[in-house]
Amino acid sequence: MKQNKNKTSLGSAPGKIILFGEHAVVYNQPAIAIPVLDIRAQAEISPTDEAVVQIHSNDIQLNTSFDAMDKQDPIRKVIELILIKLSIRQPKFNLLIKSDIPVAAGLGSGAAVSVAVVKAICKFYGHTIPLTSINEIAYEVEKIHHGTPSGIDNTTITYETPIFYQKNHPVEFLMPKGTYSFVIANTGIQIKTKDIVDAVRQRFEYEPQRYQAIFDDIGQLCFSAKQKFCEADYHGIGELMNENQSLLKNMGVSSQILEEFVGFARDAGALGAKLSGAGVGGNMIALVTDESKKKVREALIKAGATHTLITTLEGKNE
Ligand code: PMV
Repeated sequence: MKQNKNKTSLGSAPGKIILFGEHAVVYNQPAIAIPVLDIRAQAEISPTDEAVVQIHSNDIQLNTSFDAMDKQDPIRKVIELILIKLSIRQPKFNLLIKSDIPVAAGLGSGAAVSVAVVKAICKFYGHTIPLTSINEIAYEVEKIHHGTPSGIDNTTITYETPIFYQKNHPVEFLMPKGTYSFVIANTGIQIKTKDIVDAVRQRFEYEPQRYQAIFDDIGQLCFSAKQKFCEADYHGIGELMNENQSLLKNMGVSSQILEEFVGFARDAGALGAKLSGAGVGGNMIALVTDESKKKVREALIKAGATHTLITTLEGKNE
């Protein structure tokens, strides 16, 4: 394997939002997620003469060397896994990570960094590995971030395409009909997915029947949503987003600020709105039309969103 000695190698990966099915997906229900191509994590590998790996990143506050990193550090883990995969024993490079994906906000920043690093290291050593292998590595690292990840984040981000995802089933790549715009609004409250997933598990163990019923309802809703994407039924999808939000509220993963954001978005004309990701804080999403998108965004800024973004998913032409 030949090291790309004089060249800097780049890898990048997008953010993601979950449209339907977060949490329930951990309990084997299906979920639907799409990549957010407007925000990305980037990894840049450049050659050095020393046998060290250095990592510099302003965005995720990391200025260290590989050896100094904790063994359970996700970035150390991803480097380790890809070097084993490529049989590289004495790595020499600098790694620079840049990302405009907000961290701890339910937008997949951890998985995006993993995928970007794997791609950049592969390129640096002149090697191509299949996306399935990139996804496997990113999934291993997700275990550090999430504890018991469903795998939806890493899969959406690796393939950069909308997916219908169910654990232990082949991933289905979706090609929705129509064009979908979403306003994404950050509550500014950072969340630890692992803590929220653990809390849901505790409640599930305490009240298994109640929680199983919520998960089942969310699963059913995902099958309907998949169908509605094929029909470009925007109003139907919006209604299902609202139903999913009610079920997430019953699950105990919404919060006052998320409920307020969702309410303001709907009042401003969103077809549907819900939290996206683990909940409690992080981001919410609203399905908007060309007419409503500006109003919805403004309403969310007025409600206190620390950051907003409009992302568009282009499906098949109608
Ligand atoms: O990383 P987040 O906050 O987008 O959460 C991932 C979605 C969960 O369903 C809550 C967890 C998982 O592993 O699927």
